[in-house]
Amino acid sequence: MKIKYNFDVLPFSCSLQLMLVFDKIAAFKDHLNQYSKGSIIGFVPTMGALHEGHLHLVSEAKKSCNIVVVSIFVNPLQFNNSSDFDKYPITIEKDKALLEEIKCDLLFIPNATEIYSQKTRLKFDFGTLEQVMEGKFRPGHFNGVAIVLSKLFHIVSPTIVYFGQKDFQQCAVVKTLIEDLSFNMKMITVPTVREASGLAMSSRNQRLSQEGLSKASSIFAGLSQGMQVLKETRNKTKTKEQIQKIVEAACIEVEYIEIADPKTLLPADTDLRQMVICFAGFLEGVRLIDNIVVDL
Ligand code: PAF
Repeated sequence: MKIKYNFDVLPFSCSLQLMLVFDKIAAFKDHLNQYSKGSIIGFVPTMGALHEGHLHLVSEAKKSCNIVVVSIFVNPLQFNNSSDFDKYPITIEKDKALLEEIKCDLLFIPNATEIYSQKTRLKFDFGTLEQVMEGKFRPGHFNGVAIVLSKLFHIVSPTIVYFGQKDFQQCAVVKTLIEDLSFNMKMITVPTVREASGLAMSSRNQRLSQEGLSKASSIFAGLSQGMQVLKETRNKTKTKEQIQKIVEAACIEVEYIEIADPKTLLPADTDLRQMVICFAGFLEGVRLIDNIVVDL
């Protein structure tokens, strides 16, 4: 067993390899100070409602790290729409069981008062990186993400942090955050985990009906066909039209389809060797995003 038992906190279960659960910053930091010296700490920040995509991040972390920390915190600051926040799925007991099963070492699960003990005055500005796509349609979203991640990075002090490529723009923002604020950690972006239908795994999928889940698979079908059109023609308008046709046939309302430079996220010049097609849309009132990287 890698971690010694700490009697100040309750183990989630009594299996041999215990996952320790903390909800207080001080107790969690004390534990790390005491038991993590010289360890490679892998960190997977989440908002819970865990799915295979999150568990894959944890498995990746377990390959290279000797302590894996997962945080669950539904961060109010990154929701520009209060009803989206209210409807965000919360499945704490199931999440704990899943993490226990894959032998996550430490779970940090603070409440909002613990994280935001005082009003945050600081504001992040990621420039053009946040003026497009998610940043444009969800004003303040990346400021909220950057604030909570900065706090979590200070609390956990990870060696490596893991993010899923489904949130392509978030990955670009986090990379900037880590570089600009000299956080001493490596960031690994892990490819999107998909359902057999191609649908990108997302906590929000839990809000879709069975019919919705099947319709939502047309997002990746559209992106895949769009990729073919882009490869064959390099024509961005035709590519977007093709994707739009496919998703609209499945009753998905498009919010945006953008073809961007993967580094800057600005609209891609037609001579680029690599582009990313990003999608956001609504189905059954649920906002879904996905992307595909295209090598040309
Ligand atoms: O991707 C998410 O789940 C969230 O944006 C994150 C990174 C946990 C920050 O709240």
